[in-house]
Amino acid sequence: MILPSPLYTTDCGAAYLGDSLKLLDQLESDLIDLVLTSPPFALQRKKSYGNVDQEDYVDWLVEFCQKVYRVLNSTGSFVLDLGGAYESKRPVRSLYNYRVLIKLCDELGFRLAEEFFWYNPAKLPSPIEWVNKRKIRAKDSVNTVWWLSKTDNPKANVSNVLVPYSERMKKLQADPQKHYTPKERPSGHDISKNFATDNGGAIPSNLLEIANTESKSSYIQLCKSISVPPHPARFPQKLPMFFIKFLTDPGDTVLDIFAGSNTTGFAAEQLERSWIAFEQEPSYLASSAFRFLDKSQSLQDTLTLYECLINQKKSVYLNTSKQLSLKL
Ligand SMILES: C[S@@+](CC[C@H](N)C(=O)[O-])C[C@H]1O[C@@H](n2cnc3c(N)ncnc32)[C@H](O)[C@@H]1O
Repeated sequence: MILPSPLYTTDCGAAYLGDSLKLLDQLESDLIDLVLTSPPFALQRKKSYGNVDQEDYVDWLVEFCQKVYRVLNSTGSFVLDLGGAYESKRPVRSLYNYRVLIKLCDELGFRLAEEFFWYNPAKLPSPIEWVNKRKIRAKDSVNTVWWLSKTDNPKANVSNVLVPYSERMKKLQADPQKHYTPKERPSGHDISKNFATDNGGAIPSNLLEIANTESKSSYIQLCKSISVPPHPARFPQKLPMFFIKFLTDPGDTVLDIFAGSNTTGFAAEQLERSWIAFEQEPSYLASSAFRFLDKSQSLQDTLTLYECLINQKKSVYLNTSKQLSLKL
């Protein structure tokens, strides 16, 4: 099994251009600790990055997931982000994201470790017909994110992703006597004084509120500087950050099979995990290298790098340990 030479590498990872169905076959079994990805969704409206029709979508995606199962190790996780969709010309939701989940568990043997919901408050109202014009549906601003595993006990540590305490909790910790009397809840749970202990943060819920806004990153700035359109459906950086911290340790390997602008690889690099990115669209993968550069990069260097990558002249090494000098 030999992967082709990567389009670019960094100190922690490698980005490969090509069809993931073929590239996945080149990876060893049980190699990967976390596969974190967001495929093109089963949308009615075609996007620039080639969505598959709703009828064929489940089978199309399951073929990739079968290969993911093979490369994932026994304590590994597969995190799959799927946006909601409507049926064609009807104010009726498609069940495709649930059909994918059920097929992955019933037929491929994945376990649903937990379902997550990514709430993006910055999402624009759509579809216009049902939400804005006829006003018969609410704005859809939540994606389902299926956390799947091969065994009942995938590696996970929620202490790595604690969130800030609420104001009420902070008051309680400052003066437990004044604000709280330990008692048994109606559910039978005995809430003891330990409840007021400061553990460095609160346990996060499975509703992740992350606005998808990114305007100041080197990726956006450098794409703009050479007039290359940024990827139209990027993860917010905080989404891969959350799952990488939660489900892996430094040195583990993270794979994104629909990498787009390689948000996942960049998050993994910052968290000192190894990463592998697969993406089939040359311009998306070429410009994704900008994530690893300083935004003060000169226009000429940015152009030279982009042209070298888009023409696939040779594999480029981006030296991320030295705030990014280029070796072309
Ligand atoms: C929703 S986007 C992923 C965006 C990514 N999460 C980011 O933050 O930029 C899905 C990507 O999958 C890519 N894609 C679709 N089919 C593919 C395939 N067979 N192999 C590799 N990439 C593919 C598309 O070109 C697109 O960039």
